[in-house]
Amino acid sequence: MQTPESFSAPSADAPERTELLAPDAGGLARAVDLLRQGRLVAFPTETVYGLGGDARDSLAVARIYAAKGRPRFNPLIAHVSDMEMARGLGVFDARAEALAARFWPGPLTLVLPLAQGSGLSDLVTADLPTVALRMPAHPVARALIAAFGGPLAAPSANPSGRVSPTRAAHVMAGLSGRIAAVIDGGPCAVGVESTILGLFDETELLRPGGIAAEEIEAFTGPLVRPGHGPRPNAPGQLASHYATLAPIRLNASDTRPGEVRLGFGAGAADLNLSPQADLVEAAANLFHLLHEADRIAQGRPIAVAPIPDTGLGRAINDRLRRAAAPR
Ligand code: TXA
Ligand code: MG
Repeated sequence: MQTPESFSAPSADAPERTELLAPDAGGLARAVDLLRQGRLVAFPTETVYGLGGDARDSLAVARIYAAKGRPRFNPLIAHVSDMEMARGLGVFDARAEALAARFWPGPLTLVLPLAQGSGLSDLVTADLPTVALRMPAHPVARALIAAFGGPLAAPSANPSGRVSPTRAAHVMAGLSGRIAAVIDGGPCAVGVESTILGLFDETELLRPGGIAAEEIEAFTGPLVRPGHGPRPNAPGQLASHYATLAPIRLNASDTRPGEVRLGFGAGAADLNLSPQADLVEAAANLFHLLHEADRIAQGRPIAVAPIPDTGLGRAINDRLRRAAAPR
């Protein structure tokens, strides 16, 4: 449960002093402390620096999007420190177990069916029935996740649209004032993001990366290449992927008879994304309240209050437009 004061924790709108932490016991303890408060800590991995937040806390995950200025809620990778943690989040069949045994820890991300009761925020999976998991090889990343005792959501620690960071100084240059801390673990050895495999009916290469596809194919046999599989490789791109059953009317300044109202800010509403008109809180609530609105509506139209198209509001509006897209 979120306490009311967690809504007023520093956000991207209120600059905070970003701490530079050493990769030692004291630095890790401080990082864990901050993560437990739902705040963001960038940490080294062998590929690039990740912008870490508690993957089970929707407010923390919403803050990741806010800090990066991402215009879209694409699903994020949940980083784990051991197989027990991994198996609590994703469903591992024999193929997944074999790939993990061969390539983890390391720059390989596996997209698997989401485990029941995973506890992951629906902002991490972007409400998909699958989850992307990675066990990084960097000792500081592993030690941090183990000490935290849970999965960290972590996209690359750069502002959206900028080059991925491979040194703590890169992270500072891009995100200082927008996140709580950076752990300085020196330069990243690999320097490009992890390779992503989708373990669907076939094994699909969703993103080339730190482990060459050929090295994986020597173990698995031929992979289905990007764009050649049955599904689009970036699920969020599918216009009506997030469609509700009920029709949605966006930017609804009024509520018409028979409509269910999903509000934002003050005013009467059946459900409210954020009564205080806080975009981070609205993002954290978005998927859950869309499901709830759909359930309450029973096919009646859903009227969604206008959401400012600034900061996280852009990503919220992007998702709402997809949910409202004709299908
Ligand atoms: O090396 C890396 O992977 C770095 C370090 C920090 O670990 N992280 C990283 O995260 O590159 P990010 O958020 O930039 O990339 C996540 C990718 C996106 O392309 C996203 O579409 C894909 O993973 N992804 C995540 N969940 C997915 C899912 N359920 N299905 C398909 N793709 C998924
Ligand atoms: Mg990135």
